[in-house]
Amino acid sequence: PSHLKIALVPGDGIGPEVVAEAEKVLDAVTGAAGVTVEKTEFGLGAQHWLDTGETLTDRTLDELRAHDAILFGAVGAAPGDRRVPSGIIERDVLLKMRFSLDHFVNLRPSRLFPGTTSPLSDPGDIDFVVVREGTEGPYAGNGGVLRGGTDAEIATEVSLNTAHGVRRLVRYAFQLAAVRERRKLTLVHKHNVLVNAGRLYARLVEEVGAEFPGVTVDYLHVDAATIFLTTDPARFDVIVTDNLFGDILTDLAGAVTGGIGLSPAGNINADRTAPSMFEPVHGSAPDIAGQQRANPVAAILATAMMLEHLGLAGPAARIEAAVQQDLAAHGNESRTTAQVGDGVLAALA
Ligand code: NAD
Ligand code: IPM
Ligand code: MN
Repeated sequence: PSHLKIALVPGDGIGPEVVAEAEKVLDAVTGAAGVTVEKTEFGLGAQHWLDTGETLTDRTLDELRAHDAILFGAVGAAPGDRRVPSGIIERDVLLKMRFSLDHFVNLRPSRLFPGTTSPLSDPGDIDFVVVREGTEGPYAGNGGVLRGGTDAEIATEVSLNTAHGVRRLVRYAFQLAAVRERRKLTLVHKHNVLVNAGRLYARLVEEVGAEFPGVTVDYLHVDAATIFLTTDPARFDVIVTDNLFGDILTDLAGAVTGGIGLSPAGNINADRTAPSMFEPVHGSAPDIAGQQRANPVAAILATAMMLEHLGLAGPAARIEAAVQQDLAAHGNESRTTAQVGDGVLAALA
């Protein structure tokens, strides 16, 4: 493409700080490739809700649909902020966007880059991708409260898993594994306890796996997966897992690869019936917001994922190479958010 329409959602906390750096990098690589970028900024998140009383309206969703992709910072208030009830922004903005735009794959790569430091003493060569389910599972909003406020209260979030949803997720994961060097896929679930959803995942991995004889398949219960993510993360290649397990595993993966500020995510509508959304794995980090202390690398790498998704593999690869070059040279220095962005820009030049 020679022209892109990108929706920018900076959001709350450190979101605007990291998106500003991602934007600089986006402008640089697209400019060099002769691609024009039309950017529209959308005010969404906790502050927007406090200001307007609006979360994500259907009108805004329609406007978002008119873009090629969405570059997202983070939304959400500080967990202790009593003005914003927990869950409103998360469910009615972020999850509403993922569900409405059918982002059924939440793609979360993890690599240990030279120049960054894992807290593990012997991390090995970490390079895996978590293919997290994005629109189902315990996140589906299928639950409620009975006899609220009494000792007889019953609160449920019923995990919802469909054969259609799991099959298309698993197929995406196999297609990805098939083009990676090690061609290995690990299903992570908990089918010893969550027998219904777990067996559905296991059955569909077996069924779809038959189409991919070159891919080696194994299985771990999620609790055991956390052991290996900390004792031997280099063993993993592609992990396919449900929405909640994938959420937890990818924060852990961020931590073992040198910090959550380095981990990007793509919320992908692989059928391309609506724009995909690219964001850091991390949240709005209210504890460091407004201080230029956030690492923008996750947002910058999410921008690379976005360009790759949009068919601009060259500019995407340039961003990745520039990030790696910058981290190798300065990864362990204490720098401001803008200094890291400028470092990546300098590596691009
Ligand atoms: P968080 O990811 O915002 O922060 C966890 C810890 O990681 C904090 O100590 C933070 O300072 C640090 N951190 C995060 N990003 C960093 C970066 N780029 N550089 C350096 N350090 C970084 O998680 P939380 O504190 O649980 O959540 C804060 C808010 O963000 C909540 O409202 C939550 O719901 C929301 N949230 C939003 C998203 C999203 O928009 N995709 C994701 C996760 C959490
Ligand atoms: C993430 C976040 C979200 C999730 C929340 C904020 C809804 O933690 O993107 O990882 O759980 O998916
Ligand atoms: Mn998360």
